[in-house]
Amino acid sequence: MPGEKLSFPGRNYLFAPGPTHIPNQVVTAMSVPQEDHRAPDFPKLVKPLLADLNKIFRTKKGQSFIFPATGTAGWEIALANTLSPGDKILTARFGQFSHLWFDLAKRIGLDVEVIEVPWGEGIPVMAIKKRLRADKEHKIKAVVACHNETATGVTSDIAALGKAMKKDLKHPALLMVDGVSSVASIEFRMDDWGVDVAVSGSQKGFMLPAGLALLCFSQRALTARKTSTCPKCFLDIQDHINTNKDGFFPYTPSVPMLRGLRASMDLLLDEGLDNVYARHFRLAEGVRKAVKAWGLQTCNTSPKWRSDTVTAIVVPPSVNAAEVIHIAYHRYNISLGAGLTQVAGKVFRIGHLGDNSDVRMMAALGGVEMAMRDAGMRIKAGSGTGAACEYYRSTAKAIPAFKGPKATKSKRAPAKRKTTPRKAK
Ligand SMILES: Cc1ncc(COP(=O)(O)O)c(C=O)c1O
Repeated sequence: MPGEKLSFPGRNYLFAPGPTHIPNQVVTAMSVPQEDHRAPDFPKLVKPLLADLNKIFRTKKGQSFIFPATGTAGWEIALANTLSPGDKILTARFGQFSHLWFDLAKRIGLDVEVIEVPWGEGIPVMAIKKRLRADKEHKIKAVVACHNETATGVTSDIAALGKAMKKDLKHPALLMVDGVSSVASIEFRMDDWGVDVAVSGSQKGFMLPAGLALLCFSQRALTARKTSTCPKCFLDIQDHINTNKDGFFPYTPSVPMLRGLRASMDLLLDEGLDNVYARHFRLAEGVRKAVKAWGLQTCNTSPKWRSDTVTAIVVPPSVNAAEVIHIAYHRYNISLGAGLTQVAGKVFRIGHLGDNSDVRMMAALGGVEMAMRDAGMRIKAGSGTGAACEYYRSTAKAIPAFKGPKATKSKRAPAKRKTTPRKAK
């Protein structure tokens, strides 16, 4: 029953690969009375948000956009604002999300050429390079790539793809990247990698509820907007370009979400993006140690594809992964990610992105270990949790000591208070 979990002791631990835990600072920041989105000082909120999004996408030259939508709309925004009906795009399909973007592109009238890749592998850079090399007439207008395939826990090498397209071949196709489960968690460098459109969403590394599609367009992609004829209205970046420059939106924004985005980006930028990436690596590595100690395999077929935001764990053929997820939720109050379509029942997924720490991951692994044993899997109690525990212990840095509020030095010594004894009444 929806809401049932609210009365469960403790809390529901959310280890699906998005939505993720929302930090207290973000929850508090969103808890505001409704504000006037046309107020003269509203741009003081909006302009720094857009500037800081550029920092998260790691671009100096790009332009960021905030849409009241989700990652799926982000896919459409990327395509519909840069291409025209019938344009050819090239993509690779190796999981549910790379499949869904491919499907959306077809449904909005693009001519999609797909390279099929076994689920568990990532973007085939060499095959894409070969295909682009053969495209002497530059009929391929865009290469569409899923950076982190959330369904299989596979991260692809976008730097290598960008290099192949832009430096080696000098092919003019735009590079569009789905960073929904990578941006703000693992390394993503828009300018350095030659990404033209980056798509993300609020409910994963940004640690917010779902509801914002966050995008960034390169100058080349912005130029492509001028000639693109795909139908668009609500998703047209031009309306945002026209209003964002003054710090407003073309329609009513969700101000609490913007306040939350402010708090979430403050957290990310205060921690430092490189530290955020390093933290995600450590947390993921602990999960991988556990998987190995349990004697199980990950869905990604080679360490080069491993994802630091989500691990998809393959269960033996005699077990239904849905059973593990069911037990984990109902008995231990933790939410895991399910296997989707091709891998339904074969894998379950642990999300380790966003507001997580060693101890939170130990909770996840403890819950998973218990649920797997309950589901009849031959897992030695304490094996995975023990391996993760030792990894986290041996690599933990002390939590930086809380320094307290900044000491403000007053030039004058504080005036001594006169303490006049109260007169007895
Ligand atoms: C890699 C990836 N792309 C796109 C999406 C779709 O995003 P949304 O559900 O916010 O529309 C998801 C959702 O989980 C995802 O993981």
